[in-house]
Amino acid sequence: MAPCSSYHWTYNSSSCCRTRRASWEVFGEPQVQIQIPISVLLPVSSVEAVNNTKSSLRKWSRSAESRKRKNYPLSLSLCNGSGSKTTDPNPIPIPIPPIPSPRRRWLMMSNSSTRKNISTSNHLRHVESMASLPSGAGKISHLNAVILGEALASEEDDLVFPSDDFSRQALVPSPDKYLEMYKRSIEDPAGFWSDIASEFYWKEKWAPDVYSENMDVRKGNIKIEWFKGGITNICYNCLDRNIEAGSGSKIAIYWEGNEPGCDSSLTYSQLRDKVCQLANYLLKIGVEKGDSVIIYLPMLMELPIAMLACARIGAVHSVVFAGFSSESLAQRIVDCKPKLVITCNAVRRGSKVIQLKDIVDAALRESNNYGISVDVCLVYENTSAMKREETKWQKGRDVWWQDVIPTYPTTCAVRWVDAEDPLFLLYTSGSTGKPKGVLHTTGGYMVYTATTFKYAFDYKSSDIYWCTADCGWITGHSYVTYGPMLNGATVIIYEGAPNYPNAGRCWDIVDKYKVTIFYTAPTLYVTHYSRKSLRILGSVGEPINPSAWRWFFNVVGDSRCPISDTWWQTETGGFMITPLPGAWPQKPGSATFPFFGVQPVIVDEKGVEIEGECSGYLCVKGSWPGAFRTLYGDHERYETTYFKAFPGYYFSGDGCSRDKDGYHWLTGRVDDVINVSGHRIGTAEIESALVSHSQCAEAAVVGVEHEVKGQGIYAFVTLVEGVPYSEDVRKSLILAVRNQIGAFAAPEKIHWAPGLPKTRSGKIMRRILRKIASKQLDELGDTSTLADPAVVDQLIALGDC
Ligand code: WTA
Repeated sequence: MAPCSSYHWTYNSSSCCRTRRASWEVFGEPQVQIQIPISVLLPVSSVEAVNNTKSSLRKWSRSAESRKRKNYPLSLSLCNGSGSKTTDPNPIPIPIPPIPSPRRRWLMMSNSSTRKNISTSNHLRHVESMASLPSGAGKISHLNAVILGEALASEEDDLVFPSDDFSRQALVPSPDKYLEMYKRSIEDPAGFWSDIASEFYWKEKWAPDVYSENMDVRKGNIKIEWFKGGITNICYNCLDRNIEAGSGSKIAIYWEGNEPGCDSSLTYSQLRDKVCQLANYLLKIGVEKGDSVIIYLPMLMELPIAMLACARIGAVHSVVFAGFSSESLAQRIVDCKPKLVITCNAVRRGSKVIQLKDIVDAALRESNNYGISVDVCLVYENTSAMKREETKWQKGRDVWWQDVIPTYPTTCAVRWVDAEDPLFLLYTSGSTGKPKGVLHTTGGYMVYTATTFKYAFDYKSSDIYWCTADCGWITGHSYVTYGPMLNGATVIIYEGAPNYPNAGRCWDIVDKYKVTIFYTAPTLYVTHYSRKSLRILGSVGEPINPSAWRWFFNVVGDSRCPISDTWWQTETGGFMITPLPGAWPQKPGSATFPFFGVQPVIVDEKGVEIEGECSGYLCVKGSWPGAFRTLYGDHERYETTYFKAFPGYYFSGDGCSRDKDGYHWLTGRVDDVINVSGHRIGTAEIESALVSHSQCAEAAVVGVEHEVKGQGIYAFVTLVEGVPYSEDVRKSLILAVRNQIGAFAAPEKIHWAPGLPKTRSGKIMRRILRKIASKQLDELGDTSTLADPAVVDQLIALGDC
């Protein structure tokens, strides 16, 4: 028998028609030989209990062990004698029993001597628990396991191993390698990050103290510095360094317009030319190092060009998502007082034209009322959306991009900056109305975004990478622009809506450019497309529940692509908890383990660290290079919001569980936690239970005031297409929650929702749902950033159904 993988089933093709002779092999070493019906994986312990017949297998499927599991018509692929895969022509739809073998594989993967060397110091305790997996820690013994390439069942407990082929080519190919690197990053952060930073260009090296920090408010002001004294430039490292290394003719950006067939591209050299022209213009109009520049652009190539041009001359960019209203834009202009605003006249998203220049005009009028006047408004003429003649114009202030920028030279000397000089401001919403200007500096952010991109996506220079985020959000900063370009990657930028002209547009783009790494919020549909080029999937922004994870894995990735479920925040600059594909087996719905240099801790309400399996508030101990340094103009708010709740730690605002195996499960913002009769329940947990119902497509849960229970659970539910609303469905949804979590978690109300109010980045706006649930309809607030504002009216109309 020729092994097709070191972890596989083989069968003897000369067997009779009802049963096949199958053997289990680990690295070519036979483990068991049994007679089984093809298409069924059996736990070795169950082998004697069944009689190799379909009827006894059906009996097994009704046994206690499997009673919680659903039927899943899986046709199992087996490896035949020649090493190719064979699929049973008549698969029996039966549940997949758990198989015991992951542990065997674990033992083979893991080098026991390395495991023994792991110190028992506090910060490594979670990795220690992972290292003890082979001895049978916790949940692992109940898990089903598959290897990349095999479909996952709709079970709650799954474990997905990277295939050997995948691990072999991966940058971090094993748990041991991860542990070795992680251990060094924690025990010797200075050495670990200096080695990585040395791969970039520094005009002058940083001071001997690689970093300096105070993360404890009780000991004075919060301060985080990395590579201080080091002189560099992130634009130089994104462009010039790659061009000098021979990548000048490599495509930096493929741009796909809203209309299919409307596209263009820029090589790294062409991109630098354009960046330099804009940088020269900015210098000419008097933008200096440290000045801020507001960029209010849609996903045109001019958006990353503008970001890089600011970075080249040491100016601080503040990108405002082009879906924000004029009031929101004005608020940001007043706060950061930019030297100029860069925008375009209009954009086409799907079949709609949005006149951005009008919004900017209104914002500039508004900010004038607050005494902030902006002298220059640089406007890109987006001819596909609007003609120049139709654009309202303020002479003396407004300048057409196309009229001036191409007249400037295509070379521009870099302005060298200190690693701790500000790179950008990005406003993010807080619990109060005033947005927070999250400030990131240059050196640490550069090193951190580049490194997280490289490892979390197992980046190879041949990859074609597409992150669907808009540069108006942190994901577009760190993982459309800086992270990928610091690695010399080819990125795709898409101007339009994901469902225009039809629901398959994203997969069209994946096939057209042969995308290999696809990073998105997984709310898209898949139809009739190949997607063969994909090798890694990424997800961000919301806890991805196990059902959605399985859909993403099974359907989008054809069970072939590992998923990097990346947990992080605007404030963290880059990934904090993320799988490293190739290193660890994944559990659907878990963001897995911390990235290098990150020490996540879970604390209770008193701020006491909890060990082992637990749930609580997610904090981070110690700094990491990509951390934000302050809130612009309000260091006190920075300290109060993030460092005072649990002194000694950075508090993320998220809830998190850690299972016995050390895997992290994000449970949502703590303000999304509902307290029902003293029970703390993450909204994500209830949503996950609802979504596991076969007729539920999507769910969002909020808490509403309840006289007796403190808070009641209110669930908005979207049913799968074609399923009518009915009392029966309502009851069975509630039953699903009762069954999966407990009676206390049963929703008081199921509110039918044809759609949910989401931002264009896919985040559900629970603030709006809370207002609808509590019938405070006059307090809905700003709905202008919703992908589809019409869903709000639909939800209100269905309130009493
Ligand atoms: C949530 C987006 C679960 C979380 C990068 C966090 C996630 C907030 C995940 C930050 C994930 C982000 N799993 N939850 N993989 N990623 N979140 O600042 O609540 O827009 O605090 O940054 O999104 O949102 P932000």
